[in-house]
Amino acid sequence: MTLYRKYRPQNLSELDSSEVRDRLIRTFSSAFTPHALLFCGSRGTGKTSAARIVAKILNCEKRIKSQELKSKDKGQLPTNIEPCNTCESCISITEGRNLDVLEIDAASNRGIDEIRDLREKIKLAPVSSRFKVYIIDEVHMLTTEAFNALLKTLEEPPAHAVFVLATTEPDKLPATILSRCIIFNFKKAQVSEIVNCLKRVVKGEKLDVTDDFLTQIAQSSEGSFRDATKILEQAILENALTAEKLSHILGRDNMTAGKFLKLLSAKNLKVVLTQINQMVERGVNIRFFVEDILRLLHQILLKQHDVSEEREETELTGVFGTKEVLTLIKLFSKVYTDLKNASMPQIPLEVAVVEWCEQELKTTT
Ligand SMILES: Nc1ncnc2c1ncn2[C@@H]1O[C@H](COP(=O)(O)OP(=O)(O)OP(=O)(O)O)[C@@H](O)[C@H]1O
Ligand SMILES: [Mg+2]
Ligand SMILES: [Zn+2]
Repeated sequence: MTLYRKYRPQNLSELDSSEVRDRLIRTFSSAFTPHALLFCGSRGTGKTSAARIVAKILNCEKRIKSQELKSKDKGQLPTNIEPCNTCESCISITEGRNLDVLEIDAASNRGIDEIRDLREKIKLAPVSSRFKVYIIDEVHMLTTEAFNALLKTLEEPPAHAVFVLATTEPDKLPATILSRCIIFNFKKAQVSEIVNCLKRVVKGEKLDVTDDFLTQIAQSSEGSFRDATKILEQAILENALTAEKLSHILGRDNMTAGKFLKLLSAKNLKVVLTQINQMVERGVNIRFFVEDILRLLHQILLKQHDVSEEREETELTGVFGTKEVLTLIKLFSKVYTDLKNASMPQIPLEVAVVEWCEQELKTTT
């Protein structure tokens, strides 16, 4: 089994995205059960994982029992909202065979017929659980007719039905749908959150790695827990469990961002273009390289305005003026955006360095 499946969070405490986790805890601690939730956010941020956890919370047999006991007792709410992960309901959800938890991929079931079918079946009582949970992934892919049909159900769902809609593109959802749902924004994961997530894997797989190594992975995974876990898996397969070997896997090599910026400061276009060419031949991942450059420029920017923790002088201290740093950040941010549509990844980078080197040497502050 791939690591990201094996280590999919199974309860709220394992969800490393703290904001979403805390909101889910508050939502399910209240006496009111929401009937439509919408999870928005980029790929690999935990939407599907969280949706399954919600299904477990709603249907966990142990939780239901303790709730019944307590309400007989004093009418108090249960304090523990985590699913037990040991009852038949929890286990069958983890294994994807629970008849009352229905996962629908809207990307391949886009039409009115599928939603009509759903509207018919949703009326039927759950087979063995308290709630029927419908998880509709990539919900923005539905056709307009399908949305309209879904809307009717969302307006008046049967008491036993709960919807968890997930999407990477909430902008494409009609306002009518948005207004019926409690919306959760799954932000890109922070480096520290990804490191936490990786530590669970490291512990489970009994690996011996440093925090620096994990941070390096986290910085290369664009805020996606899944991408991070995949990089770690690749590092395991290639036996590259040190920061240095990892650099090689990630396609970073001896041409560091720092050295590159130093070359740029000299504005020798020919030298810089030759370097880029050689990097491409060595198979360097240009996107990661541009990320490194931006991260470094960001540090320089903070340092110039005295908000950096780091007091140490580096090889780049004093090399660029404040205006130059701004120009470079703008240039490389554009490279980063353009890379998404580039047929050859080195082209946006080359364009930027040509622009930079051909700029007149302006007076700097
Ligand atoms: N909040 C999280 N904490 C820890 N690990 C996470 C978290 N979210 C995701 N992961 C890891 O990433 C994997 C993928 O997550 P998941 O499938 O839930 O993401 P998703 O948002 O549904 O992505 P997609 O939009 O691509 O469907 C999980 O199996 C798990 O390994
Ligand atoms: Mg998903
Ligand atoms: Zn349970």
